[in-house]
Amino acid sequence: MTRSLGYLFIVLVTFCIACSSQSENTSLPIIDNIALSKSLLKVEVLAKDLNVPWDLAYADDGYLWFTEQSGSISRAHLTTGQKTKVLTIKEVWSLRTTGLLGLAIHPDFKRNPYVFVNYTVKQDTTVYNKLVRYYFANDTLTQPKLLLTTVGYRAHNGSRLAISNNGKLLWATGDAYNGNNAQSLSSLNGKILRLNLDGSIPKDNPYPNSYVWARGFRNMQGLTVSDKGKVYTSEHGDAIEDEVNLIEKGGNYGWPFIEGMHNKPEELAFADAHQTKEPLKSWTPVIAPSGISYYNSSLIPEWKNSLLLTTLKAKSFRVLSLNDDGTQIKAEEVFFENHYGRLRDVCSDAEGNIYISTSNHDWNPQPGFPLSGDDKILKISPAKKPTHKPLTAVKVQKGNAAIDGAQLYNSYCASCHQTNGQGVKDVFPALAGSKNVTGSTTTLIKMVQNGINSKSGQQMPSFSFLKDQETAAILTYIRKSWNNKSSAITPQQVKSNR
Ligand code: HEC
Repeated sequence: MTRSLGYLFIVLVTFCIACSSQSENTSLPIIDNIALSKSLLKVEVLAKDLNVPWDLAYADDGYLWFTEQSGSISRAHLTTGQKTKVLTIKEVWSLRTTGLLGLAIHPDFKRNPYVFVNYTVKQDTTVYNKLVRYYFANDTLTQPKLLLTTVGYRAHNGSRLAISNNGKLLWATGDAYNGNNAQSLSSLNGKILRLNLDGSIPKDNPYPNSYVWARGFRNMQGLTVSDKGKVYTSEHGDAIEDEVNLIEKGGNYGWPFIEGMHNKPEELAFADAHQTKEPLKSWTPVIAPSGISYYNSSLIPEWKNSLLLTTLKAKSFRVLSLNDDGTQIKAEEVFFENHYGRLRDVCSDAEGNIYISTSNHDWNPQPGFPLSGDDKILKISPAKKPTHKPLTAVKVQKGNAAIDGAQLYNSYCASCHQTNGQGVKDVFPALAGSKNVTGSTTTLIKMVQNGINSKSGQQMPSFSFLKDQETAAILTYIRKSWNNKSSAITPQQVKSNR
């Protein structure tokens, strides 16, 4: 009794301190301004000290909901930032890219307070992905209903959730590290799945009695639905060709036989035979695209009718302007490159304010990050006058650059082996001090040409698509950096080992 009264007292005092400081200053901390052609924007910190906020979703009761990878679901008030943890899911298995991932909120949340999440679980040695629906009542999530289970793996679990304009739940799944899954109609992996909100199969799905809506995907990290009902995804390529796709009913997107644009002879043959869909855009070198969100508000008119995209590897926020019917990307602008670190997700609210989350506490931390207060959720909205020197967009450079080993290394290799050549412990080997790097030139050239399939489950893709000159520049660079002191490799040596 005394204890609970004491507790109540502390709560009241804390609450009064919180309300008095808030009545003096209801605004969130502003950390940057952005100048567009007409609009001036501000960037505020809505929430901080989070653990990889993987998915953000707006609810029409005035809150931004978010998942943290380790297993919790929270919501933050859109103007005060006041944050409450709503649920922690104990069975979540969170390691590298597994954990509590996708989140979707019922579009009419006030009347239908349903929350959908998917997450990875591990039982003995078997990994699954669960899709679960909750009901929000009394500040917590209740009545968990398991809608669907898919095969999982230590990597390539996807995934994202979204609700389509006609009220169906979409789930973008990963191929669970097995390309064959992506083409097979009897597997739920490497697919866009489409469900009724109670977990049943909609009658108008393309294949009878199947959740499959579209197939041929590797590892999607972004999913969004436009005002007109168009569905877009972002997806990680292997060593090259990250993608943004426009999803069509029954569409085949080609993985593992096609990566990115349909431009190699064997890809064209598969495309002909299976009428595959080409991405709206692909990126080589890769940028690791993550959350994607269709934006159509007049609040920031320069960004109306565009796809907002966050990226992990490229550590940037990108605005992809669409044509009128949403079938083409007309232009790409890049913001915040290297400024806030890895960015995991993006969404907007009913007024058109935009929210992005950082991912600097995830499995692949970058030099210079995390910043203090990471991980954060940032709010982007119009500002009246600047309080900081405004940031501007960087136009995307079309590469014709001179061949530079360090730059090529950073584009093609550093996402795994890291800029400093130290790799990631137990995942990607260090190239600094590696005998395979400093030793036989033939072995090294062959490894990089052919890729490496290891027992550990981590794999190195083949880099045979690089030109001889490019491979030679990268290999010379890694043989002479980070205290490695070996001979250069020439384009002729690469050529004779193809
Ligand atoms: C997608 C991640 C990834 C990328 C990108 C990548 N590698 Fe690797 N690399 C690996 C993995 C995983 C291994 C270890 C495979 C094994 O278990 O043997 C490896 C091994 C190596 C090795 C052997 C090191 C040793 O000590 O055994 C070399 C050399 C190497 N990579 C060079 C490169 C170069 C050069 C590039 C860029 C052109 C590159 N890698 C890009 C994942 C990657």
